[in-house]
Amino acid sequence: MEKAQLVFVPSPGIGHLVSAVEVAKLLLTRQHQLSITVLILNHSFFDSKIHNYVESQRASSSPISNRLGFIDLPKDETEIFNLSSFIERQKPHVKEAVLKIIQSESGVESAQLAGFVIDMFCTSMIDVANEFGVSSYIFYTSGAAFLGFMLYVQKIHDEEKFDPIEFKDSNTELLVPSLVNPFPSGVMPSALLSGEWLPPLLDSTRRFGEAKGIIVNTFLELESHAIESLKMSAVYPVGPILDVGSDGRNTHREIMQWLDDQPPSSVVFLCFGSHGSFDEDQVKEIAYALEHSGQRFLWSLRRPPPPGLQASPSDYEDPQQVLPEGFLDRTVGIGKVMGWAPQVAVLAHPAIGGFVSHCGWNSILESIWFGVPIATWPMYAEQQFNAFEMVMELGLAVEIKMDYRKHSGVIVNCDEIEGGINCLMKHDSKQRKKVKEMSEKSRMALMEGGSSCSWLESLIKDVMNNLA
Ligand SMILES: *[C@@H]1O[C@H](CO)[C@@H](O)[C@H](O)[C@H]1NC(C)=O
Ligand SMILES: *[C@@H]1O[C@H](CO)[C@@H](O)[C@H](O)[C@H]1NC(C)=O
Repeated sequence: MEKAQLVFVPSPGIGHLVSAVEVAKLLLTRQHQLSITVLILNHSFFDSKIHNYVESQRASSSPISNRLGFIDLPKDETEIFNLSSFIERQKPHVKEAVLKIIQSESGVESAQLAGFVIDMFCTSMIDVANEFGVSSYIFYTSGAAFLGFMLYVQKIHDEEKFDPIEFKDSNTELLVPSLVNPFPSGVMPSALLSGEWLPPLLDSTRRFGEAKGIIVNTFLELESHAIESLKMSAVYPVGPILDVGSDGRNTHREIMQWLDDQPPSSVVFLCFGSHGSFDEDQVKEIAYALEHSGQRFLWSLRRPPPPGLQASPSDYEDPQQVLPEGFLDRTVGIGKVMGWAPQVAVLAHPAIGGFVSHCGWNSILESIWFGVPIATWPMYAEQQFNAFEMVMELGLAVEIKMDYRKHSGVIVNCDEIEGGINCLMKHDSKQRKKVKEMSEKSRMALMEGGSSCSWLESLIKDVMNNLA
């Protein structure tokens, strides 16, 4: 059999990059005639964690690492970040990198270029794949229901001048093919209400139809209705694709030891994603809720970046400056407040019984994998949509809020938070039972003969057929 080569162009957000690399590894493990090169786009807008992540991947020596390469593209020095024009400017760099790959493969055992795997935000890279005369596959790092939602919104935007911003205040509902329930206007995801993000999202979505396939980080048993609704396109649900290899024992020994001492499923974990943070008033409401509820807790509390800066939250030197006076003393032994948290290691711990989450898609997949129910508190991007899907469509989460938005000025009061947390931590809730069942299904999906494993096989077959 001939050797084949794929080029991956992930969006340089750390969450997107890590799942793309994990998909690459799955493909390489199952097809030994395949090699993959991942192109790393570079702009200071993106997370500094990316560099360390890529270096750690380069340094790893697994049986597949000699078939997995990384190429750094030159840093883009424009000051203001604009996704569409950034991707546009990367095209010549991508082309040059791929030319080099092809030329260096000109030996007897040369690997032929079999296609591009392009992040959901970078679909204009299809132009470069076309120049090389090869197929494009999209890698979709959110769920199938949101993919269906975007395809629907793009259609009614183009055909009926649908405007998400007007719709948000209309107090009506949308009938979306990828959803069982009507979608309420108030839950319109933040990404679609932003004049900055809506146009590039629509542009990207318009080109999905040009791809030979769409690889989605989900699994059939989780989103069967949504996947079924997409059956006109070549959709490959190959998830859940997670990076669960990391362990918090080394970096967060004290926290992990504290968890060791807590009863099973007794601790509620609060964590709001890499861009999640609250103003002081909201922090205090969360603190009152936790204290009142009497539940054991582990709270990842982050400091917002200075106003106006496109920066990520950081850790407080002393969280007491934003917490209610005496809070830490009164909750000693019951709860812990920390900065950045090793989320996967925490969710994997048997002491964790519930997760107050911003509902980023990767976080949702992680909580399902470890069988931990969620209480929803979306912040940005498509998270409001994900919260709706988890609560209303799938019954896997309880609601604190589905329509919260970062920077909206809205404050969720302590009673509402406490109610959500108490509901989340009930031992016999139907959500807990359901999430345990879904956890087993998520693991089965990836096993030999499981749904995702079979989809991965058909994807590999499709890729290898490109050479024929
Ligand atoms: C981006 O480029 C800068 C400057 O060349 C470099 O220091 C940094 O490590 C690069 N980042 C990534 C993620 O490659
Ligand atoms: C980003 O760039 C695109 C294309 O270059 C342009 O049409 C758009 O207006 C820009 N967006 C913003 C928010 O400046």
